[in-house]
Amino acid sequence: MPRQMHLGAFLRPISIHTGAWRYPGAWPDANFNLAPLKRLIRTLEAAKFDAFFMADHLAVLNMPTDALKRSHTVTSFEPFTLLSALSQVTERIGLVATASTTYDGPFHVARRFASLDHLSEGRAGWNVVTTGNPETSHNFGNEEHLAHADRYVRAREFYDVVTGLWDSWADDAFVRDVNSGIFFDPAKLHVLNHRGPAFSVRGPLNIARPVQGWPVIVQAGASEAGRQLAAETAEVIFGASSTLADGRAFYADVKARMAAVGRDPDDLKILPAAFVVVGDTAAEAKLKRDRLDSLVHYDSGIRSLSIALDYDVSAFDPDGPLPDIPESNASKSARDRMVAYARATGATIRQLAAKVGSYAGLAFVGTAETIANQMEAWLEERGSDGFNVMFPFVPGGLDDFTSKVVPELQRRGLFRSDYVGSTLRDHLGLSRPANRFFE
Ligand SMILES: Cc1cc2nc3c(=O)[nH]c(=O)nc-3n(C[C@H](O)[C@H](O)[C@H](O)COP(=O)(O)O)c2cc1C
Repeated sequence: MPRQMHLGAFLRPISIHTGAWRYPGAWPDANFNLAPLKRLIRTLEAAKFDAFFMADHLAVLNMPTDALKRSHTVTSFEPFTLLSALSQVTERIGLVATASTTYDGPFHVARRFASLDHLSEGRAGWNVVTTGNPETSHNFGNEEHLAHADRYVRAREFYDVVTGLWDSWADDAFVRDVNSGIFFDPAKLHVLNHRGPAFSVRGPLNIARPVQGWPVIVQAGASEAGRQLAAETAEVIFGASSTLADGRAFYADVKARMAAVGRDPDDLKILPAAFVVVGDTAAEAKLKRDRLDSLVHYDSGIRSLSIALDYDVSAFDPDGPLPDIPESNASKSARDRMVAYARATGATIRQLAAKVGSYAGLAFVGTAETIANQMEAWLEERGSDGFNVMFPFVPGGLDDFTSKVVPELQRRGLFRSDYVGSTLRDHLGLSRPANRFFE
């Protein structure tokens, strides 16, 4: 039996591609319309996906209105409210929400995820992000975005507080003894009393321990600090490697870091984001991708490039190479990848804008068979444990994947034909964490 892969579906925005909402036959409003989202998550569940993933940003994209006006991301549901609603129309698929350690509070986060885990009967996951978009600070009364290194120090303490709060109650704390009138056993309550550099949180959490013990911990940072945090804490990584060689290096690095901190490398699943365009022939798939890319305006592409580089490159000669640009305090890994690509290829600013504006990361474009071949190679060569799939548009691009690629993966024994357990931990093969205060 070959090793099986795990599949997440990246659904906020419903497609990362700026042209997605304009593709012929696409639902232009799907990002912000409950009925289509219900239909999409049910389709993903029927295809036995591990999880439905909601990215989140606490500001609109940091670009001028002239470029922003072309983006379908400006109106999206808040992840918890949407996933709470979707938890009621699904039974098995995992529900991963993003919450920021820079702009949220650990008590709020612990409570909301515990709530979602109970509402969904054990299907919640927390994508821990430190928030790269510097504009976010202006929505929270701060002039300056916290520095990259400080964001990660804070993230580690945030994680310790959240997981400590989830362990506030033993699993059997609530005796609800009607005769004696005792609702909970005080010996099974732990008050955290956390006092640290960034947070003072007394506890306990005012909700029972999550069904999964802890919701699944997901992480997506790829910088040095991001990798280290992931190695110490994460159970899933949404990676951003764009080639198999990079994927293998990233995989080996993070799993070695885990061993160094005493964790079993199998306790973390690495799922790179993969943009997948399916055609009945290779030529048709390429045509779809080209058509999609042609729907991205230069004004939008140049701004996406400026975001990726965290530097306004709109004043440079569009037909010249990328000049040297100063260091940045935003997301480091995305920026480094783009600079390396520009240097290696000598691409012009216009070419870089076209690439970033239309999605520059890992893409599988081909037939169900060639896509399955590529996915299989990543799995076999330890470039990943599966993928966080991004669809080119919905519903067509998503349906192509679930109706063509998934059966091909199943036929090869690379993906489940049915769910075995009921929680997100079950799907991912992760054990339920013991309560550090009671077990
Ligand atoms: C697949 C994927 C999904 C991500 N989702 C989010 C998100 O929802 N919200 C967010 O603020 N950042 C998100 N990020 C960004 C990461 O959390 C992180 O900020 C970024 O990868 C840079 O981290 P680094 O500075 O450690 O390299 C995502 C990254 C990837 C690769």
